[in-house]
Amino acid sequence: KLENFGRIAPYTELFVQGTIVTILLAVFTVVIGFCLALILALMRMSNLRPFRALGIDSDGHTREKGFLALLSRFNPLDFIATAYVEILRSTPVLVQIFIIYYGVFSMVDLPSFQLFGFIRFERFLPGVVALGMNSGAYLCEIIRSGIQSIDSGQTEAARSLGLSQSQNLKYIILPQAIKNILPAIANEFVVIIKESAITYTIGVQDIMSAVNAVRGASFIIIEPLLVATAIYFCLCFPTSKIIAYFERRMSRGDKR
Ligand code: ARG
Repeated sequence: KLENFGRIAPYTELFVQGTIVTILLAVFTVVIGFCLALILALMRMSNLRPFRALGIDSDGHTREKGFLALLSRFNPLDFIATAYVEILRSTPVLVQIFIIYYGVFSMVDLPSFQLFGFIRFERFLPGVVALGMNSGAYLCEIIRSGIQSIDSGQTEAARSLGLSQSQNLKYIILPQAIKNILPAIANEFVVIIKESAITYTIGVQDIMSAVNAVRGASFIIIEPLLVATAIYFCLCFPTSKIIAYFERRMSRGDKR
């Protein structure tokens, strides 16, 4: 009913604030997630093998199978990072948020104050940490596959021209990898805008919490939901179109 939109008009400020909170959530989440993902991706691509020596038998031959052969190839950093990524990708974000909020952050006494006068810090921070930890797992795989998708011939060419391992990474691999990765990272931003709706369950005052507040105060539910739908759509749809545009433009030079 149209007149219900008039009745929720007094709550406009809640929706504006909720929109700001949602955008800030997504920005901080992707920044935290990206830093975490860089560390995880480096761990996954490291070739630290503390038990390498066990792969050689007493005759000096390389062990092909058996426990010692496996142990000699064991990379603890890769193992930890892979375990982290797979656990976070195989459990619901809702569960992760509750564990962070009720489990981890209940043990630390966060100062309770309001950022900009309307963002409750003691709710916002656990929300951002939980989403950032989740996003980091997805971004790790984006970064890793982006780097590993660069043809190994590039490395061979660079190395044979006398570039060192780190020069190769810095001047040859990363410039190409970043170009491939960037659209996927931007897409993660859109995903997090939508995913962040779940933080209203721990009292983050985002767009969904504005819907809830209006319902609590006025018993109107469909109209605020339609407003929220419109806001999320206006945030996500243009952003993904812009990303797709840049993705097409950047790949133009790759066509052969
Ligand atoms: N909706 C999924 C869940 O509840 C999480 C998806 C997160 N995706 C991402 N790219 N961060 O488990």
